[in-house]
Amino acid sequence: MNERVTPPDYRSFDDLPSQTEIGFGEIVGIDLSSHTSPFTHGLHRYPAKFIPQIPRWAIKELSRPGEVVLDPFMGSGTTIVESLLADRVAHGIDLDPLACLIAQAKTAQANRLELRHLQEQLASSVLREEDNLIVPMAGVKNFEHWFSRATWGTLQNIRNKILTLDCSEESRAFLLCVFSSILRRVSNADDQTQKTYVSGTLRKNPPAARPTFFRALERAINSLDSFGVRASETHAHIHRASATAMPIADQSIDLIVTSPPYLDSVDYMYNMMVEYFWLGDVLGIPHRKDFNAARKLSVGGKKSQISLPPPSCVSELIDFNELPDYRKAAAASYFSSMDEHFREAARVLKTGRQYVLVIGNSQTEKGQLPVHDALVSMASTHGFSLQHAFGYRIRRHYMKFPRKGRGGIILMDWVIILKNEGHGPTPLRRLPMPEILISPDAVAH
Ligand SMILES: C[S@@+](CC[C@H](N)C(=O)[O-])C[C@H]1O[C@@H](n2cnc3c(N)ncnc32)[C@H](O)[C@@H]1O
Repeated sequence: MNERVTPPDYRSFDDLPSQTEIGFGEIVGIDLSSHTSPFTHGLHRYPAKFIPQIPRWAIKELSRPGEVVLDPFMGSGTTIVESLLADRVAHGIDLDPLACLIAQAKTAQANRLELRHLQEQLASSVLREEDNLIVPMAGVKNFEHWFSRATWGTLQNIRNKILTLDCSEESRAFLLCVFSSILRRVSNADDQTQKTYVSGTLRKNPPAARPTFFRALERAINSLDSFGVRASETHAHIHRASATAMPIADQSIDLIVTSPPYLDSVDYMYNMMVEYFWLGDVLGIPHRKDFNAARKLSVGGKKSQISLPPPSCVSELIDFNELPDYRKAAAASYFSSMDEHFREAARVLKTGRQYVLVIGNSQTEKGQLPVHDALVSMASTHGFSLQHAFGYRIRRHYMKFPRKGRGGIILMDWVIILKNEGHGPTPLRRLPMPEILISPDAVAH
């Protein structure tokens, strides 16, 4: 197991200062004393969410009001929310349909009067547990492992009511997102970790589904109120698509801000399994088999089916023969997908504009992998030059325990600013890789 030591002193900020005040390769701290879930940011949990401070900083530093910001690995849409709050036009792309639903709900200029009316309608009609229990996703066995019969019946009733409401599709998507946001809490699954599992030792006493849903709905509509007052009228454009083939016009984007998947770390869909059980059919994933197939498409997925060799500039930095067998294929497919993505990014981003990439390195038994450096090398073959880079440390959400052993511990995140020079390859500039190891309490929470 890795030895952990307290990191050296570093400058710590509530909000990051301008990039000119941060040294190349410097490591800064971000205090999370300021609130991380204002507006609609807290609507739904999502693995490896951005803290809003990061995209807010990048958008302010590197774009102007009215310009177009893209997050090609959008996740739950933190960049999209911050873009609209800063009066930018936003495009978000993700393969995961639940991520798209969440991002849509968080940025919907949904008719809040309609939502209040629907809230009343639901409150007066969601009265009972249904007794004819139906497993909501075909192919899922032993559903009572995940939900008690009483909770199952109540959830079935709420879901059916939402699906049959006479309302706009935008409002229905918002209500389904709120419904989804309570599922892990009211299930038997542990809600302190990302992975979806029922602990055999730590029995959970889940709260009742009905009051939990109505409390979440009240909070969600209030958050939409505060978002709606501040956000621009411009619409967010959410695309369920791949960052390796983006439905975005050439040279149309002023700034890219994103945190792509980490190498071989998070299985986003698996972590959202109970949510998929209930919403899979609405999201185009009606059967357990479809769910398992969709999981394999994600960049960095352990079971990824893309098996191209890694680009040669990556092999110069990472010796794939040194990797344990179980990581070789996943790592190779990760880098070849990211290479495809950079090609696309160079196509859609205007020449002379920036791409802000947030990425962590991961740990193997043999040491840290310079993932950040490998990504910069690959990006340079597509015409991106390295403009600035610094590391930052925060407390992480939904990572109660540091990842040990096989998955690797993410040591810290890098903010890398690339510039699209419009032609490649660009000269290479190496990134430092300080040996910072994190104590468990610095990673937890
Ligand atoms: C680190 S998460 C992004 C989290 C996001 N910054 C947030 O605040 O919620 C990475 C995302 O990349 C998505 N992803 C994985 N492979 C993808 C691909 N080929 N195209 C688009 N998105 C992909 C995953 O579904 C996941 O939502």
